[in-house]
Amino acid sequence: MANKVVVIGSINVDNIMHIDNLPQPGETIKMNSFSKAGGGKGANQAVAAARSQAETSFIGRVGDDSNGKMMLKLLKEDNIDTKHITVVPQADTGQAYILLQKSGQNSIIYQAGANSLVTSEDVDQAQETIQKSDFVVTEFETPIPAAIAAFEVARAANKVTILNPAPAVKKIPEELLKLTDIITPNETESELISGIKITDEQSLKESAAFYHGLGISCVIITLGSKGSFVSHNGQSEQISAFKVKAVDTTAAGDTFIGALSSELDPDLSNIHDAIVYASQASSLTVQKLGAFPSIPKREAVLE
Ligand code: RIB
Repeated sequence: MANKVVVIGSINVDNIMHIDNLPQPGETIKMNSFSKAGGGKGANQAVAAARSQAETSFIGRVGDDSNGKMMLKLLKEDNIDTKHITVVPQADTGQAYILLQKSGQNSIIYQAGANSLVTSEDVDQAQETIQKSDFVVTEFETPIPAAIAAFEVARAANKVTILNPAPAVKKIPEELLKLTDIITPNETESELISGIKITDEQSLKESAAFYHGLGISCVIITLGSKGSFVSHNGQSEQISAFKVKAVDTTAAGDTFIGALSSELDPDLSNIHDAIVYASQASSLTVQKLGAFPSIPKREAVLE
C-alpha cells in the first residue's frame, strides 16, 4: 500500500541561468540561455514522493499571482493534495535564481516571498491530514515554528517525522530536533549543526552519535556522488551512489528525501532498500535539467 506523505515546506518558481562558469567578483558574463521550472525544496520533495506513488499532501503558501497559479497547477498535475496551500495577497510566490554551470554544479539564491508566511495556523488547519499520514517531511525554506507545530502533531499521532536541515542553519531549536525521527543532512549541513567535520567513517559515526544523543533514531547523511551513510538501530553502513554524468544537480537531495518517504516502511524495517531506491531516483534527477522536470516516476526508478 502506498505511503501517505505530508510535506510542509517551500514552493518556488526556479529561474535558471545557464552559464559556462560562475562570474568572478566584478566580472560581467553572458548567459547561454534562460529557463523556468517548478521548484522549491518542499515542492520538489512532494513531487518526488508523489511520482514514487505516495499519496501526497502539501502545507504551504503561494502569492496571489501568475507564479502561484502555475505552481498550484503543476502540483495538482502530480496528484498532490493542495487544499492546505494558502494563497496570500500580501506576498509574491517564492522564487529561486539558479546559476547553472556547464559542469552541472549550481549556485542558488532564493527569495522566500509567501514561503516566509507559513505559520502554525497552517498546520492547525491540516491536523487531520497529518494524523492520517505515515510520514511528515519538512525543511528550512519555511519558518521553523511551523515545522515544530507540524512535528508536534505528527509525534502525538505516532507518525514518522523527517527533517531535511536545508538550507543550512547554524542553530536548530532543540525542540525541533527532539521531535525528529529521521534527519537527512548533507556533509556541510551536518558540520554546521554538529560541529563535526566529516572526513572519514569515524567522523560519520561521531556525527551520527551526536544526533542519536538528541533522541533522533535514524540518521542519514548524504554524501553527494559518494552516496549516503545511515545509522539506525545500532547499525551503520555507507551506501554507494550510482555513477552517472550530472548535467544539473538541482533537486537531487530533495528527490532523495521524497522518494525515501514514499518507499520506506513506517517501521523503517526496509531502510537499506529504501535508501538504494532513493539514491537511484536522485541519480536520475541529476541527469536532466530543472527541478520538477527532472524528478523521476517510480517506473523509471525501478527500471
Ligand atoms: O533544492 C533545490 C531547490 O532549492 C530549488 O528548486 C530552488 O527552488 C531552491 O529552493
